[in-house]
Amino acid sequence: EHGLHPGEYPWSHKGWLDTFDHQSLRRGFQVYREVCAACHSLNLVAWRTLVGVTHTSDEVRAMAEEAEYDNEPNDEGEIEKRPGKLSDYIPAPYANEQAARAANSGALPPDLSLIVKARHGACDYIFSLLTGYPDDPPAGATVASGLNYNPYFPGGGIAMGRVLFDGLVEYEDGTPATTSQMAKDVTTFLNWAAEPEHDVRKKTGLKVLIITGSLWALSLWVKRFKWTPVK
Ligand code: HEM
Repeated sequence: EHGLHPGEYPWSHKGWLDTFDHQSLRRGFQVYREVCAACHSLNLVAWRTLVGVTHTSDEVRAMAEEAEYDNEPNDEGEIEKRPGKLSDYIPAPYANEQAARAANSGALPPDLSLIVKARHGACDYIFSLLTGYPDDPPAGATVASGLNYNPYFPGGGIAMGRVLFDGLVEYEDGTPATTSQMAKDVTTFLNWAAEPEHDVRKKTGLKVLIITGSLWALSLWVKRFKWTPVK
């Protein structure tokens, strides 16, 4: 069964020349870190990739150092802990799938690194899912016990409950943290995670068009010039 078709939203990075809104990426990472990271991993994202995208290198290094990682085994074969570094990957909330399921009544919170690309509807779907938990499910809508009603989730019953509520985080840039603002920011951030080359791709595409366009015009002009005596 398909979920309700999400609306189409005017993402500021949607146009063929539009790059990501980096203030939104920064807020979105904050939402991931303070809310989603309790249950969802982001296994493909290394701390270093956030540098210059959401935060400065000092800021990222400080966040990485707050997490603990296993060190190389020492001479006795013991593994000690060490603070994170820029080259480490963002730590997962659970040690393995069994632990993740045990903490979520059997359901598995998927890794969010590629979720925007993996789900039909992409950003529109993720935004609709996060903001689509009605206060009262419509009459007749029943879901299995332990599941939450969300019309955008295929099947309508999802193990994840509503997680975003107005004012849940406090944004340092003063943006009011409404449910929809946080959903927009975290979705934009997850789109960046799935497509970190996005901005460079669009900027390079424009250069390619300008250069090939100029060469094409030049070649037309040369052709006409060369063929003039033949006419
Ligand atoms: C599933 C996003 C927070 C637990 C999902 C899915 C997405 C998502 C995109 C996949 C839906 C699908 O399969 O189409 C997020 C975001 C969060 C967040 C962006 C933060 C804003 C949380 C939290 C928990 C959680 C805090 C745990 C308390 C789950 C579980 C599933 C899930 C258990 C699997 C649902 C199922 O298959 O029925 N989440 N999530 N999520 N999430 Fe989250």
